Parts: sequence; structure tokens; C-alpha cells
Amino acid sequence: MNEIKIFFEAHKVDLFRSNKLILKNLNLKINDNESIAILGPNGSGKTTLIKTINREIYPAIKKSSYLKIYGKKTWNVWRLRSMIGIVSDDLIQSYNQDVIGIEVVMSGYHASIGVHGQIQRRLTTKQIDKAEEIMEKLDISLLKNQPLKKMSMGQKKRCLLARALVHNPKILLLDEPTTGLDLSSTYKYMDILSSLKKEGHNIILVTHNIHEINNVIERVIMLKQGKIVADGKKDKILTEENLTNTFDIEVGLKKLNGNLLPYRKTILQ
Ligand SMILES: Nc1ncnc2c1ncn2[C@@H]1O[C@H](COP(=O)(O)OP(=O)(O)OP(=O)(O)O)[C@@H](O)[C@H]1O
Ligand SMILES: [Mg+2]
Repeated sequence: MNEIKIFFEAHKVDLFRSNKLILKNLNLKINDNESIAILGPNGSGKTTLIKTINREIYPAIKKSSYLKIYGKKTWNVWRLRSMIGIVSDDLIQSYNQDVIGIEVVMSGYHASIGVHGQIQRRLTTKQIDKAEEIMEKLDISLLKNQPLKKMSMGQKKRCLLARALVHNPKILLLDEPTTGLDLSSTYKYMDILSSLKKEGHNIILVTHNIHEINNVIERVIMLKQGKIVADGKKDKILTEENLTNTFDIEVGLKKLNGNLLPYRKTILQ
């Protein structure tokens, strides 16, 4: 059996953005065998946390505080990028919209935005075949030559997921991957995540949709104003009380067909 390792460890970490303290005294451990959903109001620090894990932003230097990935405080960012796959809207927006699907996917090999000229020539046939294979698996082969500007939101999101998979990373960081997708595309996306989990990928999912927190997810973390206010096994954490406290609105929960559905408890006049 594979040994379970601590993937991410933050101890007393403060994170500032533009001189504003966003994550406050963060203490968090994530094992590399667990899949997690991160919930919280807009502006609570979810994306900041994802960017911290992905080493896109760095914590403030503070005595006795540390941040480790696989036990190491310093990492070669390129090496790290090959171990963690990321999907976020920021990433989609940073692409030139003329870049075509296969280029988006292949850009994952270099953690770059688009693959052009020299970099493309440096890719091996094996790498190109793998990119095509992943596109086929995610049912987006038809998008190989389609520029981003001609893709729907759902198609772009699948291309980004394919990009995140080129290195076969153990950890997938997904920041609201289904925002903007219709119901059927959302369910299909969730099915893909389910099969990726079965293949051994672990998923760290930021979402506003509680019904997406299905059997792929074992642990739930709730953030409020830059602090973790609830963290633990999914069934213990996903409660009416925790949601009500975190979102400052009375939330009820109903279980239907194995899905947890939130509803507003106060009756609208
Ligand atoms: N680049 C930035 N510079 C300065 N402040 C920022 C920056 N990005 C985010 N913030 C601030 O950090 C706080 C947390 O933002 P973050 O994007 O992490 O929230 P979030 O939980 O992901 O919200 P949402 O659900 O809306 O995506 C917010 O107050 C936001 O204004
Ligand atoms: Mg966000």
C-alpha cells in the first residue's frame, strides 16, 4: 500500500494581499490521500488559500510560522507545478483567446499560458500523444483546433482540466470548476471528478454548490473572513448549524437521493 504523506502543512501562517491581511493565523494539514471541499462566503479567502497551496502567493515572514509542501519549506516552482494540477477562472482569463484547445492542454507541460514556437517544438511525440489521449478521455477531441474565443464556458473548463492532467498529478486544485456550467454539464463534470478520484487523483474543490460535495469528497473546510471556522469529516461538518454560522443566513439541509440540498429557512415575504 502507498504510504500516506502530509501534502500541505501551514503553521500560524498569515497571508497579506496588497497590504491587507487575508488569511489569519492559518493552521492546516492536508494529507495526500484526502479529497476536500472548501466552502465559504465570497471574499472569505478560498481562492487565496488555493493560491497559497499552489505557491502562487507567499505568506508573510513571521517567527515560528511555516508552510511546508511534502515536508519541505522551499520548492522549485516548476517541479511543484508538475505535482499539482490547477483549474481556475483566473487561468482561463489569462490566455490569449486565439489559443486553440490542444495548445491549452499542452501548455500544462510547461505550466505556461499557451504553447508557442520553441516550446511547442520541444514537446516529445509522447507528450503530444498523451495530451490528445486526455482530450479524448474528457470527450473534447473536437476542440483540438478550436480557439478559446469560440468555446463555451463548459468546453473551456474541460480544456483546463485536461491541461491540469498532463503530468498525472496526485493533487488537483479546482477553484469553482463548475461555475457557469449548466446542470447537465455540471453533473458530467462531477462524474469526471469521480473517475479521476478512482484513478488515484485527490481533489481539493472550492465550490458554492453544496450538492457537488458528493462521495468524491471526504473532508470539508469552511472559511469565514480568512479563518477556518469548521474542518473535519464531511458528515460532521456539513450541518445546518455550520452553514448558518459560516454564511450568516439561516440555512436548512435536506438529503435527497444521496445529495445534500441547502434551502433558506426564513420564509420570503
Ligand atoms: N489581488 C488582490 N489584491 C488585494 N486583495 C485581494 C486580491 N485578491 C483578493 N483580494 C481580497 O482577498 C479577500 C479574499 O479573496 P478571495 O479571492 O480569496 O475570496 P474567495 O473566498 O475566493 O471569494 P469568491 O467566493 O468570491 O471567489 C477579499 O477581501 C478580496 O478582496
Ligand atoms: Mg474565489
